[in-house]
Amino acid sequence: MPDTNYYWYKLAEHVNELDFAGNNIAIAVVNGKKICIAKYNNGLYGFAYKCPHAGGIMADGYINPAGYVVCPVHRYKFDIQTGRNVSGEGYYMKCWPVRMTEDGIFIGMK
Ligand code: FES
Repeated sequence: MPDTNYYWYKLAEHVNELDFAGNNIAIAVVNGKKICIAKYNNGLYGFAYKCPHAGGIMADGYINPAGYVVCPVHRYKFDIQTGRNVSGEGYYMKCWPVRMTEDGIFIGMK
């Protein structure tokens, strides 16, 4: 995906500044909006704070071994890289790319 489509917001200087709690999901505020940042397989992924189904707090869910975030309310699963609802209910979770560079950690939004 070409960089020019995104504005890259700085999340932190270093990954250690993000608080991943016990479930590898941190909460960040970007442009006044709460979002989730997940740590998975040495990568970081940004996605919606609330579930597109009925507003469950995704930060209270967990990331399963396949890289899907599981909503704590009805356990629908979403791919953290694409937002695709992999458990088949037909919802789409908003997600954003995250980059780790020497200058810090950035999230790309349009
Ligand atoms: S609110 Fe998330 S699955 Fe229903």
